[in-house]
Amino acid sequence: MKKHYGNIALVTGASSGIRKSCAEYLVRLGFKVYGTSRKAPACQGDPCQGDGPVTGTVPVTCQGNGPVTGTVPVTCQGDGPVTGTVPVTCQGDSSGDSNGTAVDAVDTATESADQPGSVTMIRMDVCSDESVKAAIDYIIEREGEIGIVVNNAGMGIAGSVEDTSPEEAYLQFDTNFFGTHRVIRHVLPHMRKKGRGLIINMSSVGALFPIPFQSTYVASKAAVELMSGSLRNELRNFGIKVCVVEPGDTKTGFTGNRLFVKEGGEGSAYYQQSSRSIAVMEKDEMNGPDPIVVAKAVARAIKRKNPPAFITVGFGYKVLVFLKRLVPRSFESFVVGKMYKC
Ligand SMILES: NC(=O)c1ccc[n+]([C@@H]2O[C@H](COP(=O)([O-])OP(=O)(O)OC[C@H]3O[C@@H](n4cnc5c(N)ncnc54)[C@H](OP(=O)(O)O)[C@@H]3O)[C@@H](O)[C@H]2O)c1
Repeated sequence: MKKHYGNIALVTGASSGIRKSCAEYLVRLGFKVYGTSRKAPACQGDPCQGDGPVTGTVPVTCQGNGPVTGTVPVTCQGDGPVTGTVPVTCQGDSSGDSNGTAVDAVDTATESADQPGSVTMIRMDVCSDESVKAAIDYIIEREGEIGIVVNNAGMGIAGSVEDTSPEEAYLQFDTNFFGTHRVIRHVLPHMRKKGRGLIINMSSVGALFPIPFQSTYVASKAAVELMSGSLRNELRNFGIKVCVVEPGDTKTGFTGNRLFVKEGGEGSAYYQQSSRSIAVMEKDEMNGPDPIVVAKAVARAIKRKNPPAFITVGFGYKVLVFLKRLVPRSFESFVVGKMYKC
């Protein structure tokens, strides 16, 4: 396979679902893949999986007069700033921040076992600008470039518009839209320097069909799609490509990870109706295809020197997107309402 964008890929989050599938699929295609998770150092092939104790390394930024080496937790004082790495001892299971205080303190990338043929996990919270920057700087320091970025990190919040607080709406956008924006902003200077790159933004068919009781989710994905459209033209002269991938319902941890608005409980005027609609979407997701179909769509974009602006995943959804162009919007709204029992 011709690697138009080099050999280094970053898949934001790779601990589960679509992202895990994407990251592992790209490894199989021969790419060196960095995956991210907030739960560093939880990862495939991670020394911190299992019963430990196990050893890895963590980049540390501290204040002082020279490179510092030690064992976490680390307290560095002085005139700095100084950047170095320290060995870190991780205990036990993969579910928590077992790598300790230094990582929490500097909120920076945490490296897992760097095994050939596996995804290298680093820590990233897309809601933190510092965390995103630290992770990207870390890869650049090691590899000199990031050729491909798959912006996958995302989550859904369900509930009626009226029951959604501004904070909940912001959280939804902070992860799905601003998270994508943060990653793009920090990776672009490096891609521009190299004169090549591919940014793949994970959207959703929902961005095209305003699903009831998922308003902030579909709005955040629609925002990602529009930003991607603008970006595609902005980057045309820099040799950097942008592609949006639109999965439909896919069987992942997304359903279980969905948050519900606080005011949407039994006291809400929408309780009965939203419960019915959300049950439909949960059933559709759990009956959806394996995330490998999305990973293959991502790979299709990567294989092309000029990837399309949008890839809708799955024949059925492609047909829906095509039909959307033909019918009046009020009819589309009526059909979507019927599908979700409104
Ligand atoms: N599943 C579907 O039906 C479906 C359909 C259309 C589109 N999508 C989109 O596909 C993408 C992947 O979803 P998925 O189905 O694979 O869901 P998933 O299995 O729930 O994975 C989502 C992951 O996003 C990560 N995440 C959440 N907030 C984050 C943050 N602030 N910073 C970094 N990572 C964060 C979490 O990883 P950590 O906890 O490890 O950090 C979480 O495990 C999302 O953008 C989603 O909107 C999914």
